[in-house]
Amino acid sequence: MKNGTKIQTKFYDYLERFNIDVNNITSIILKCCEKGGQVKFFANIYGCTFYRKMVLKEIKAAALKPMSKVLHIGSGPLPLTSIYLAKSGFLVDAIDNDSSAIEKAIQVVKKIGLEGKIQFKEIDGTKVDCSKYDAVWISFIVYPKEEIIRKVIADLKSGGKVIYRNPRSWWLKAWYQPVETNGFSCKAIKVKQPLGKESVIITKN
Ligand SMILES: C[S@@+](CC[C@H](N)C(=O)[O-])C[C@H]1O[C@@H](n2cnc3c(N)ncnc32)[C@H](O)[C@@H]1O
Repeated sequence: MKNGTKIQTKFYDYLERFNIDVNNITSIILKCCEKGGQVKFFANIYGCTFYRKMVLKEIKAAALKPMSKVLHIGSGPLPLTSIYLAKSGFLVDAIDNDSSAIEKAIQVVKKIGLEGKIQFKEIDGTKVDCSKYDAVWISFIVYPKEEIIRKVIADLKSGGKVIYRNPRSWWLKAWYQPVETNGFSCKAIKVKQPLGKESVIITKN
């Protein structure tokens, strides 16, 4: 984790000075999402400045038909991807393997008046059947990500899309391994996103 360029090493030293455990960054992000979902102001800012643009770029790149049936794997306690997919007119199912994330997400969606527009279910991404979907979104932090992507591709009909997020910047790559596209033997396009991320859109042959 601590190997890397001089700048990376300096960055890690800086984080350590503030007692931020670089190995525990995922739990910090998940905590922020959980707490953020309960604070309307934070959820709005985070949603409008980052998620909305990211999801709209992904929808455009995936070129989905209106009313397409989509699944979001790893929807989390603040299910912003699912929310912007539902607001864009898609029929959205959302899953998470954490029951408390599902409970919180249902409350968030109720609060913003989207009740009934997203169907939530507690199930692991490695076990869900994706064959009835036109597109499947996979969150940045899901494990085992590559295994889930492979299963989704295997389940989908020809022409079905998989949308997942990778780290793009060196600082995000220091914590998260990108899932390379060359092993999937499908057409893949990449879309640059803010906060050091990129989206990958795969079309099943
Ligand atoms: C940070 S949240 C991402 C949600 C984000 N706010 C969004 O809208 O895209 C990641 C969620 O993925 C879930 N997760 C991780 N691995 C999973 C798996 N194998 N199957 C289902 N959910 C998973 C976690 O429980 C967590 O709630």
